[in-house]
Amino acid sequence: MATPPKQLHFGLFTYPGGHHIAGWRHPSTPSSELMTLDFWRNMAQLGERGKFDLFFVGDTLFTREKDGRFFGRQAFSNPDPISLCSVVSAVTERIGVVATLSTTYHEPYAIASKFATLDHVSGGRAGWNIVTTWEDRASQNFSRATALPKDDRYARGTDFMRACTALWDSWGDDALLMDRAGGRFLDPSRIQAVHHRSDSFDVAGPLRQPRPPQGWPVLVQAGASPPGRRFAAQIAEAIFTAQTNMAEAQAFRSSTHALMAEYGRPPEAVVIMPGLSPLVADTEAAAKRLEEELAELVHPEVAIWMLSENLYFNFYDRDPDDPMPIEEVRASRTPTSNGESILRACARGNLTIGQAARHVARSRAHQSFVGTPEQLADLMQAWLEAGACDGFNLLPPYFPTQLEVFVEEVVPVLQRRGIYRRDYEGTTLREHLGLKRPPGRHAG
Ligand SMILES: Cc1cc2nc3c(=O)[nH]c(=O)nc-3n(C[C@H](O)[C@H](O)[C@H](O)COP(=O)(O)O)c2cc1C
Repeated sequence: MATPPKQLHFGLFTYPGGHHIAGWRHPSTPSSELMTLDFWRNMAQLGERGKFDLFFVGDTLFTREKDGRFFGRQAFSNPDPISLCSVVSAVTERIGVVATLSTTYHEPYAIASKFATLDHVSGGRAGWNIVTTWEDRASQNFSRATALPKDDRYARGTDFMRACTALWDSWGDDALLMDRAGGRFLDPSRIQAVHHRSDSFDVAGPLRQPRPPQGWPVLVQAGASPPGRRFAAQIAEAIFTAQTNMAEAQAFRSSTHALMAEYGRPPEAVVIMPGLSPLVADTEAAAKRLEEELAELVHPEVAIWMLSENLYFNFYDRDPDDPMPIEEVRASRTPTSNGESILRACARGNLTIGQAARHVARSRAHQSFVGTPEQLADLMQAWLEAGACDGFNLLPPYFPTQLEVFVEEVVPVLQRRGIYRRDYEGTTLREHLGLKRPPGRHAG
């Protein structure tokens, strides 16, 4: 029998107003409603109509401004992810809910408890985007002048995850007896302390909630540096990444699988989802017009600000028509992994500073696409079949219209091609992503 075609997975990467920096200015975006339940419910329900695997909320723990510069020219960043995911899980039935939480500014017991609760009340749909938070501006909101060095952040993250997984496993799946007649709610022999001791934490346990329906929430990570990727190779079950070209994405995916093998993990233990920001219309010309329309809405100061922020380089006083000073940027400070991918895109396209600024403003360093539903389906299918991804983390440039277009026009094409589900087959996020449930230490 022929093997069935590989299936795409989709994450809905939400952002108030949309991922294009000027998305909030688009006339179809309900900008005055970005903090209302209606806005988020509509988005999550649209994603569920499109049979998306997951609804995802990021969090950077700081406002996107620098030294008060350009204050007020963009939408605010995310609402609190875990609160939002909790409420979204109540107004949806199947879509997974993935909340970002930082291992640098929290304690494992409190976080393990939040995700256990989210997994229970959502019926096994919780995921955690585990971040270590890189920015000094975030640390300044948590009583520290500067961020911890990256190696320390990832060492703390590793200890954090050991403590959390031990806490989720501190209850056996069969610890709940609910024996009314005998008066025994729990079986104490199936609940054990964890006694986690590491450089960063000392946690007694057990957790005060039963083991989550999924065993653990789905663990998501997006590390791009060597320590970040090693961290992901050990624990991530879904990886978000910002690959913008197919060959680089193939190399990223195969090297991730190789790193995972060092920790005894098979390739099918992870779903790799590069970001993709699609702008779709019935014809290519119409899609390009939309792109222009959005570009017109970007205030030039905002684009230059974004480029400066992303590359940690001051472009404010440069002529936007000058070529991008790629080597000067590299020499001034080793670029972050995202910064390096922007610089490579600048070199490939021979971009000027103004063009690079618009490029970054358009896609927030992720791959962008402008064209028709069939063309987008071609791109996605090509990446899937070339082993460059297992799906995509979608970043609609403005909400909700571009998400509606994706769900109504692109999803049916993918379904007809047999590379995307027509309906959910399971109820949990693990089932959507084809991931195993961790057995826990009381199993067997
Ligand atoms: C799609 C995507 C979403 C991300 N979301 C967040 C986020 O919400 N909060 C955060 O602090 N970092 C976020 N990051 C940053 C990553 O966690 C990571 O720090 C970054 O890719 C750089 O890798 P490194 O930490 O190994 O240097 C995200 C990255 C990607 C690609």
